[in-house]
Amino acid sequence: MADTEDQQTDEASDDFYTDAANYWSKVPATEDGMLGGFGFISKTDIGGSETFLSSIFKLKNPPGRKHALDCGSGIGRISKYLLTVHFDHVDLVEQNSEFLDIARTYLEDRGKKIGEVFAMGLQEFCPDARKYDIIWCQWVLGHLKDDDFVRFFNNCRTGLKENGMIVVKENTTSSNNVEVDTVDSSVTRPIDKLRQLFDQAGLISIKEQQQSKLPQGLYPVHMFALRPKGTVKNFQKCIRQ
Ligand SMILES: C[S@@+](CC[C@H](N)C(=O)[O-])C[C@H]1O[C@@H](n2cnc3c(N)ncnc32)[C@H](O)[C@@H]1O
Repeated sequence: MADTEDQQTDEASDDFYTDAANYWSKVPATEDGMLGGFGFISKTDIGGSETFLSSIFKLKNPPGRKHALDCGSGIGRISKYLLTVHFDHVDLVEQNSEFLDIARTYLEDRGKKIGEVFAMGLQEFCPDARKYDIIWCQWVLGHLKDDDFVRFFNNCRTGLKENGMIVVKENTTSSNNVEVDTVDSSVTRPIDKLRQLFDQAGLISIKEQQQSKLPQGLYPVHMFALRPKGTVKNFQKCIRQ
């Protein structure tokens, strides 16, 4: 099993994103498809996120409730059951445009709450400055190479409003190693590796919680609430590849 460093120095790493895109192009645009055949955990997952988000709103200087961004949204499962419940407007960014087409009908009942929809990989995405109260990233970051992960989060910092936060909810390894999945072209990182990448992106984790009540045999899932380490300058531009 190669680690991320190997994968990134390998010339074949250019295929990392196209292989993932190919994988997702064959996955049904359903809640079950978004959850790799574990559609039955959706309620538990959303319940855990609800609790975590509520605890974030109770912090000193909490984020506002106007505008959220759903990163790697798929068909918009999290937008539908979590983000549109708590925010006035929700934007989506997702690399698979067919999922976004389905999202239009799947999220129809959320009406005008659904705002802009960006059909692109997170490795290419840069939010408008000072736009979002919450940037939610769930079950997608394993599809980013380390350097793109850091650049993406650096750019997200500039996309946050005052008191804005980034929430990460991801699988983690218990082995302390980065584990590679060649089937969907992703990696699963240990918590310390995630913390190291957050730090490199100028973010600090102010609250963490493990998702409970998941079936045995799945990776442990951890939630992180991240804030910029210092003041983000208004004029800071997006960093491009
Ligand atoms: C496991 S699904 C999770 C979907 C959604 N976050 C949820 O929890 O229901 C992963 C999603 O990430 C998307 N994805 C994969 N690589 C991506 C990338 N580089 N940029 C943006 N989205 C990506 C896939 O197309 C898929 O919709």
